[in-house]
Amino acid sequence: MNSRIKGKTIVITGASGGIGEQMAIKVAESGGNLALIARRVHLLEALKEKLITEYHCKVEVYPLNVTDYDEIPRTFNTILKDFGAIHALINNAGYGIFQEAHETSFQDVKGMMDVNVLGLMACTGEVLPYMRQQGSGHIINIASQAGKFASPKSSAYSASKHAVLGYTNSLRMEAKRYGVTVTAVNPGPIATDFFSIADESGTYVKNVEKFMLDPAHVAQKVVEALFTNRREINLPRWMNMGSVIYQLFPSFVEKVGNNLFFKK
Ligand SMILES: NC(=O)c1ccc[n+]([C@@H]2O[C@H](COP(=O)([O-])OP(=O)(O)OC[C@H]3O[C@@H](n4cnc5c(N)ncnc54)[C@H](OP(=O)(O)O)[C@@H]3O)[C@@H](O)[C@H]2O)c1
Repeated sequence: MNSRIKGKTIVITGASGGIGEQMAIKVAESGGNLALIARRVHLLEALKEKLITEYHCKVEVYPLNVTDYDEIPRTFNTILKDFGAIHALINNAGYGIFQEAHETSFQDVKGMMDVNVLGLMACTGEVLPYMRQQGSGHIINIASQAGKFASPKSSAYSASKHAVLGYTNSLRMEAKRYGVTVTAVNPGPIATDFFSIADESGTYVKNVEKFMLDPAHVAQKVVEALFTNRREINLPRWMNMGSVIYQLFPSFVEKVGNNLFFKK
């Protein structure tokens, strides 16, 4: 439970499954109100019903493809009208395709950039002027360990998450000056439907299954951080240590870890 959430309005993109759905449940447990965004509206409606029945909070559903950039301002205006305020935005919608660069079509590269980077920036762009005027707010961007440590077989996905971290780190310094907090979340592999697209062959999942994070645990850590000044959440800790060592000694890690990374 996070007592700072009670009565606040939290917008979550990609709330129809995976960690987005789990974060919505944790927010509702703490007495927050929710604006849920994703494309699969039937899943959002089912989640809305569950949250209202179990937690008696206010929940509204907003069908949106975050690459429909013209529609994003309309959606956020409607959320503001429906709730009267937006206290936090969790930019979570995203996907990956784990392929080597020479196998990845430009269409797929663009798809990941459009959703993971531009969709996130477009949604953020809608709340920033509002939060700036309000003098408060919290933006949480779900990046990835792939944004800190680019391993093979996910060049386009890693590039998209590096972009998310670059944007987040810059925004954090700007937004602090007008009272808005910005947090990056960098998880390692999580047991969600993400891998039905990322890893069609199932090879990666087979190799990392025993290290996979529980989506409810990741959601718990993110929701605990809402309305705190947490800079980054890195999970699991041992994987983040790997990212730190990589940043310090990139040539050494690339040499020693090469065969291991290709197990993906
Ligand atoms: N699973 C992992 O191992 C892992 C690790 C590190 C980071 N992450 C990141 O965590 C976030 C959530 O992933 P997950 O693991 O929970 O995957 P997931 O179960 O596949 O959920 C992805 C969510 O994003 C939504 N989404 C995808 N494309 C969208 C679009 N164009 N417009 C609106 N919503 C869209 C999906 O909803 P609809 O299909 O209904 O639109 C779904 O709700 C992603 O940003 C991912 O990159 C995941």
